[in-house]
Amino acid sequence: MKEYLSRSVEETREYARQFAAGLQPGDVVSLSGQLGAGKTEFMRGIAQVFNCDDQLTSPSFSIFNIYKGRLKKQPVKLQHFDLYRIETSLELEGLGFGEYVDGPAISVVEWGEKFPDELPGNTKKVFIEAVGENERRIVIDEL
Ligand SMILES: Nc1ncnc2c1ncn2[C@@H]1O[C@H](COP(=O)(O)OP(=O)(O)OP(=O)(O)O)[C@@H](O)[C@H]1O
Ligand SMILES: [Mg+2]
Repeated sequence: MKEYLSRSVEETREYARQFAAGLQPGDVVSLSGQLGAGKTEFMRGIAQVFNCDDQLTSPSFSIFNIYKGRLKKQPVKLQHFDLYRIETSLELEGLGFGEYVDGPAISVVEWGEKFPDELPGNTKKVFIEAVGENERRIVIDEL
């Protein structure tokens, strides 16, 4: 378990970039924390590492976005889920969530702790907590 104190959005993204450097295809990352904790900012740092500038799916479909990125000239697919508005496991299964996270892409899941049974056992867990206006405690549990 690793713990960090971020003092700005940029610092949060930097911790996310360091974390993302260790990710492999097929990895699943769960991002937990209250509304506005900084989960999406952490995701932005991850996306920077994989050079995900073009977005494959519509940003208005905010539950699930796929980004086509690359690392060292190799293509990398990054899947970003936001389960805040999902209410039941059935709804999640209807979106094909299980098949997506079992695939070769890297998956990042906000609010995944709502459905612990839907996440693979080796999911890497990141917890973000606001401890001040711009301070965030980031705990990374990589198992
Ligand atoms: N150190 C920090 N790290 C990350 N975000 C910060 C920090 N300090 C302030 N912020 C602010 O906190 C907010 C974080 O928003 P973000 O969308 O990343 O949260 P979230 O956890 O994804 O929320 P949601 O559950 O609504 O999706 C932004 O407005 C950002 O500017
Ligand atoms: Mg978010």
